[in-house]
Amino acid sequence: MQNFTFHNPTKLIFGKGQIEQLKQELPKYGQKVLLVYGGGSIKRNGLYDQVMNILNELNIEVFELPGVEPNPRLSTVYKGVDICKKENIEFLLAVGGGSVIDCTKAIAAGAKYDGDPWDFITKKTTVTEALPFGTILTLAATGSEMNSGSVITNWETKEKYGWSSPVTFPQFSILDPTYTLTVPKDQTIYGIVDMMSHVFEQYFHHVENTPLQDRMCESVLRTVMETAPKLVNDLENYELRETILYCGTIALNGFLQMGLRGDWATHNIEHAVSAVYDIPHAGGLAILFPNWMKHVLDENVARFKQLAVRVFDVRPDGKSDREVALEGIEKLREFWSSIGAPSRLADYGIGEENLELMADKAMAFGEFGRFKKLNRDDVLAILRASL
Ligand code: NZQ
Ligand code: ZN
Repeated sequence: MQNFTFHNPTKLIFGKGQIEQLKQELPKYGQKVLLVYGGGSIKRNGLYDQVMNILNELNIEVFELPGVEPNPRLSTVYKGVDICKKENIEFLLAVGGGSVIDCTKAIAAGAKYDGDPWDFITKKTTVTEALPFGTILTLAATGSEMNSGSVITNWETKEKYGWSSPVTFPQFSILDPTYTLTVPKDQTIYGIVDMMSHVFEQYFHHVENTPLQDRMCESVLRTVMETAPKLVNDLENYELRETILYCGTIALNGFLQMGLRGDWATHNIEHAVSAVYDIPHAGGLAILFPNWMKHVLDENVARFKQLAVRVFDVRPDGKSDREVALEGIEKLREFWSSIGAPSRLADYGIGEENLELMADKAMAFGEFGRFKKLNRDDVLAILRASL
């Protein structure tokens, strides 16, 4: 293992009815709150009214930023920062999926920064301060509810980048599976693909002696794979939603990466694809990940074999390690297709037109990926295999 210090300050509040805990949490942070949410799902399922009732009961002065887009945009971050500065906002409450939470993180940091938030999103400067914020999560997918990461798109320049800071962990996150019962089938599938991809990003590394980390990753993957097929056919099943919600958080809250650093190349390529085409993040991942796996297989065939045997139940007898590994990758593709995830860029109507542009976007900060460092030719090869 590599040396590590683990510190995750987010208070995780999980379970039915836990929204009541807002009454203890919110008064700690002040009286002026900016409520950040998306395109209206929380109004349709009644969560907005529940939150507003509690805010009113606490006599909190509420300002609102509705309309955060999936793949949240820099222009919306600007709007939120303006409100925070003008109204002296003391706390932000994000109610929604990963996009709402990511946007809130950028607003929280932008409110304490004199320049353009794009500076820290593009890593020209580092964030040292942010307004405190909490979240009420409505979609199991990104892990943003218990990590410090945020992904923001500049739609004008067609750039989408992830950034993070030790000061952008949520103070608390309320996870009630009830709020995820209304997530439609396609977003449920995307969430499942996203959390599995987060595990893969952390599973492929060259650090030696990580037996517990490996088993933890494999457990999350097996649990998701056991639950997902039932859930996509039974979207309002509370127990299945509960399991998937917990898996999504564990997949990217730092637990799986103690003692190692993950790869994250596929996420980087996907961000380039969704910067140009505005497709759902995990739709892109479902298409790209098996092709990344095949491209980098020879970096460590044994690791792919381990995944194939332990997670995809591939029988190794009479087969070469490479055959076992490739069968595992094929089973991943089959699994994702079986639950309804896309498998080709063509599924989104994406052809060869912008491959070079997407490769350029992916290379914005130079070569990337820790399991295998990818150059522009590698990226183009993976994109071509994904057509
Ligand atoms: O906008 P509303 O109306 O709320 O609808 C949303 C949106 O259309 C809807 N939705 C959310 N909760 C719902 C619901 N619909 C019905 N009932 C509910 N309970 O779902 C749609 C997608 O929401 P979004 O927040 O965009 O999805 P997700 O959570 O998958 O977030 C995706 C974003 O997160 C970034 C992605 O790049 C993408 O921009 N990521 C963030 C990460 C992080 N911060 O750690 C890591 C990830 O790898 C990822 O890159
Ligand atoms: Zn992701």
